[in-house]
Amino acid sequence: MNLKLNLVSLVPILCASRLDRLNGVSSPTATPVSKRQTTSFPVFNFTQPLDHFTDTGFTWNQRYFVNSRHYKPGGPVIVLDGGETSVTDRLPYLDTGIVDILANATNGLGVILEHRYYGAFFVTSQYRIYSKQPPTPANFITNVKFAEIPEDLTAPHTPWIYYGGSYAGARSAHMKVLYPDIVFGSIASSGVTEAAISNWGYYDIIRRAAPANCSAQFITAVKEVDNLLSNPETNSKVKSFFGMPGLTLDADLTSFFAGPLGAWQSKNWDPAVNSNSFSNNCAAMGNPSNATIATFQGFIVNNATWNLATIVNKCFGTLNDTDFQQTDLSQTGRLWQFQVCTQWGFFDVTCYPKFVDVEYSSKICKQAYPPGEFFQVPALPNIEDVNKLGGFNIAHDRLAIIDGEVDPWRFDCPHSFISPTEFREDTPLRPFKLIPNAVHHYDENGLADHTQEPPEIQAIHQQEVNFVKGWLADFKQRH
Ligand SMILES: *[C@@H]1O[C@H](CO)[C@@H](O)[C@H](O)[C@H]1NC(C)=O
Ligand SMILES: *[C@@H]1O[C@H](CO)[C@@H](O)[C@H](O)[C@H]1NC(C)=O
Ligand SMILES: *[C@@H]1O[C@H](CO)[C@@H](O)[C@H](O)[C@H]1NC(C)=O
Ligand SMILES: *[C@@H]1O[C@H](CO)[C@@H](O)[C@H](O)[C@H]1NC(C)=O
Ligand SMILES: *[C@@H]1O[C@H](CO)[C@@H](O)[C@H](O)[C@H]1NC(C)=O
Ligand SMILES: *[C@@H]1O[C@H](CO)[C@@H](O)[C@H](O)[C@H]1NC(C)=O
Repeated sequence: MNLKLNLVSLVPILCASRLDRLNGVSSPTATPVSKRQTTSFPVFNFTQPLDHFTDTGFTWNQRYFVNSRHYKPGGPVIVLDGGETSVTDRLPYLDTGIVDILANATNGLGVILEHRYYGAFFVTSQYRIYSKQPPTPANFITNVKFAEIPEDLTAPHTPWIYYGGSYAGARSAHMKVLYPDIVFGSIASSGVTEAAISNWGYYDIIRRAAPANCSAQFITAVKEVDNLLSNPETNSKVKSFFGMPGLTLDADLTSFFAGPLGAWQSKNWDPAVNSNSFSNNCAAMGNPSNATIATFQGFIVNNATWNLATIVNKCFGTLNDTDFQQTDLSQTGRLWQFQVCTQWGFFDVTCYPKFVDVEYSSKICKQAYPPGEFFQVPALPNIEDVNKLGGFNIAHDRLAIIDGEVDPWRFDCPHSFISPTEFREDTPLRPFKLIPNAVHHYDENGLADHTQEPPEIQAIHQQEVNFVKGWLADFKQRH
């Protein structure tokens, strides 16, 4: 998740710290910081108790930014859940993205709210505290007093529309289900509502959505490496060929292949925030051919394998526990990884290479979070904590589900091809929309000039405006 998504080259992905490499590529965050932002928004603090259930005597300050440019008395509050990163990464959505679009359409007040445990909170807590605590945003919604806004905008007197993308999309859906009386409406965009131990669909979606030549090249290379690893005569030679002669674990080699593939997730319809990594990697893999090359290690490979090795050779290393146990404040990859290890799962597994499996992908949980004095990470995450709130089938009046057609995280969203409710009816009260050709939460960002957005992005923004206005009309009628 700390992957810099504007990377043009693959090397920094592979060379990122261990946690970032394993976790960044497939973490559900894709938050490019728009360079287009021209306005600065005021930042505020809201005092929260450390624990909503027990009085510890401790409080902390929750950060939020406010966009009041469209606000008129009687308007709603549009709040975006900052999710698993610093809320400052979400500023573009407040300025030209979905928050501004909905606020403009409804005379609303736009807010982006930092998730407890990330951002400013993280700096003071220094990894010591994680708690899921949905009461935190609920307490904000029912008690916040906005500076320079004379009206009391707390819920339930004022309608609040909650928005989140990706992990925060799942949070948005959960907020509607857990607090139906204070969260008037929710939009879950690419909301990964179904936690899963094995996230096998992720790469399968990429395989099917990528250009056929490119997928074919990866498959050729990865199958060939699998065979070379399986053969005791070539097992160590193929590791040398990839520049990692000291590797003990086969999966330490094959897990590197996730980097070039996972770059798919950082695609965006806006060229200013899109990453070309995936297409660059495809170009580097070349076109399918039967050309073979003899390696210095004494075996013969297809040109696809040769090309993959050229990419991977740029970076190599050996996993060791000490790498994972660095706890200086630059290791922010630990934050989302902890949520993965305790509740969400989503461990990478691939059909090829066979060596990357749940056991391998979850090994990091034991390495990075050894048993502590107060807490022990479970053997596998308690995904039931998440899925009892609805999982794939999560539904509620005024809960909108928006997913991307070729988003690898669609596997964990209500539109998943393994979801029992993949083909729900799309109604104004329960919108259920799939954005064509879209990857991850494509509706979250917007351009200053909306008419320059691709037609499918303008369309989804307009649909969101329409159903939110419809919900708000219901609110007015009732109050
Ligand atoms: C918010 O709280 C933090 C400490 O948690 C403090 O450093 C900062 O100055 C406060 N900001 C405002 C605007 O009050
Ligand atoms: C705000 O909404 C109006 C229509 O209500 C529209 O004409 C205008 O372009 C919108 N502005 C922005 C910045 O979205
Ligand atoms: C192998 O692939 C590379 C990269 O696309 C290409 O430049 C080269 O010509 C290919 N070699 C053969 C023998 O096909
Ligand atoms: C790769 O795909 C393109 C477009 O589908 C096709 O025109 C081209 O012939 C393919 N190249 C090879 C080597 O198969
Ligand atoms: C490779 O050779 C096989 C068997 O001769 C052939 O069917 C296939 O089309 C060839 N592939 C390419 C990309 O030339
Ligand atoms: C393990 O990683 C740590 C920190 O990155 C490093 O200092 C140490 O030398 C490594 N140990 C081995 C055996 O590679």
